[in-house]
Amino acid sequence: MSMATTMLVIKPLFSPLIHHQSSRTARLHHHTIPTPLRRVPTHLPTSLASAAAAAAPPSAAESLVDDFDPELPIEEALTPPSSWYTDPSFLDLELDRIFYRGWQAVGCTDQVKSPQAFFTGRLGSVEFVVCRDDNGKIHAFHNVCRHHASLLASGSGKKSCFVCPYHGWTYALNGALLRATRIKGIRNFDVKEFGLIPLKVATWGPFVLLNFEKDVSPNQEVESDIAAKEWTGSCVDILGNSCIDPSLTYLCRREYTLECNWKVFCDNYLDGGYHVPYAHKGLASGLKLDSYSTTVDQPTMPMILTDLE
Ligand code: FES
Repeated sequence: MSMATTMLVIKPLFSPLIHHQSSRTARLHHHTIPTPLRRVPTHLPTSLASAAAAAAPPSAAESLVDDFDPELPIEEALTPPSSWYTDPSFLDLELDRIFYRGWQAVGCTDQVKSPQAFFTGRLGSVEFVVCRDDNGKIHAFHNVCRHHASLLASGSGKKSCFVCPYHGWTYALNGALLRATRIKGIRNFDVKEFGLIPLKVATWGPFVLLNFEKDVSPNQEVESDIAAKEWTGSCVDILGNSCIDPSLTYLCRREYTLECNWKVFCDNYLDGGYHVPYAHKGLASGLKLDSYSTTVDQPTMPMILTDLE
């Protein structure tokens, strides 16, 4: 199956670290006088965690990783210990080392094909909105109002600006604060300081990519090829040449919430059909399982499952 036909976005479930007021809750409030302004941190929790981790001894989760020997030949390897799936600190570590590092695919370029198109999403605990402005430039922001941190936009569609559902602050598609409702007489209030917090965004083929790392300047344009290389590493040529079919177009997005650790789903997908004869007998009857194989693409380390019985 081509990469362009299906894109799987794994979103680990946990409590949000950036608190936001839900739009439903926001509608229940009737304040008409703006409460004091609150500056939203421009760095993600991971930035702080990374800085602290640089000087700290290994955490319990890091020690769990240290116990794992990645050099072990595949024939001698065991599955990761259950603590990797159940220890909350391990999930925190995964967020910091995997989901908040480097580029992550969060959507398709077709979702922001025309000016004023936008889509929202959540990666880890970070709510984001991606949009295309009237000049055709794609932007990404924390989807959090700079006033009292309400969730700003929801779903997807088209908008000429983002109006906060809580007190009506209004932002342009380039993130600039256009209107702060009934803000008068507040000293040193400069709308230029209260634009949406930008996120680094790039596109490669049909993919929209975000990067949460703190040392990436959000205003700097990212070359598509550079982002692709950073995202896919040494696979960039293989994926770019044979796995993206440009004739495929985006039709719809469906989201499923799975009540399990995110790796359980990946394990299931990556077991190469090992479970199919028993868990999906109907599917198995239509497949030639005796010729189905999974191969680790390293010349010195072939792993082929041919005998499923
Ligand atoms: S939270 Fe008050 S305007 Fe958005």
